[in-house]
Amino acid sequence: MPAPTPIILDCDPGTDDALALLLALASPELDVLAVTAAGGNVGLELTLRNALALTALAGSRAPVYSGADRPLLGAFVNAPRVHGVDGLGGIALPSGGSPAPGIASDAIRAILRSAQRPVTLVGIAPATNLALALASEPKLAGNVERIVLMSGAWGEGNATPAAEFNALNDPEALEILLASGRPVELATLELTAQAQATPERIAALRAAGTGRSLKTACDIQASVPSSPRRGHGAGAPLHDPCAIAYLIRPDLFTTRACSVRMDLGPGPSRGRTVIDRWDSTSAPHNATVLETINADAFFALLGERLARLP
Ligand code: RIB
Ligand code: CA
Repeated sequence: MPAPTPIILDCDPGTDDALALLLALASPELDVLAVTAAGGNVGLELTLRNALALTALAGSRAPVYSGADRPLLGAFVNAPRVHGVDGLGGIALPSGGSPAPGIASDAIRAILRSAQRPVTLVGIAPATNLALALASEPKLAGNVERIVLMSGAWGEGNATPAAEFNALNDPEALEILLASGRPVELATLELTAQAQATPERIAALRAAGTGRSLKTACDIQASVPSSPRRGHGAGAPLHDPCAIAYLIRPDLFTTRACSVRMDLGPGPSRGRTVIDRWDSTSAPHNATVLETINADAFFALLGERLARLP
């Protein structure tokens, strides 16, 4: 097996973040150098607490850093309807340890500065921490292998008609990453909608093993309300784990190089990712967008990996 890919995982747990974090910690293809928490789905105090608890649940010693409690401009808009007021659908976990000293953006820069190999930045939250790190020391982008994000949408948003939640919560941060000069790869809402965590799939996950992490992951996901407004029927799209699975099994995905531009205005389309899927403009390709996923294989991978955890 090739050497594991060093990653920094920036998250806002968050029900789908929880499964993504556990998947990353369970996968030998990845070396999770650090977990960084941002506000987003719920406030930073809760996302940090949840990240610490999940990392401890997985038996990982990865350091967890506290990060941004607000975007570069304005304030985060939380999503308690989806994630519960505690961020994990009311599923109580034993508390984790204490956060590592310092703040996320400083930790990201320190890791990049001393990295022996280029590091992959993985963002499944509003991108504030990642953007602060790269904007305050741009030359460190040279130590970034790639930036893989769950963010954006070709079309309809889920936070507003125009914008996906992570992109809306810090559009300037996403713009900074798109302009970083490093490869940016996006798992958008259209990709994650293909990974619908139906009751049947959650039942199959439960049957994959007997560990507490797997059970907890299934309990958390089962707490998520169905998203009928997007016509998906029972269950909800499993957004964030798609970004992790892409790192582990890129063969389960198809992708397309595109230009992606941000709407940074104050109006109703703020936070929209304007993705030129058919090259209808002459805008340069500055991102790769994940187009399809083999959903059955994705859920099989998720179950096999979560079953490895304690
Ligand atoms: O739009 C889905 C994204 O927003 C996911 O990362 C989810 O956790 C929320 O943060
Ligand atoms: Ca998230």
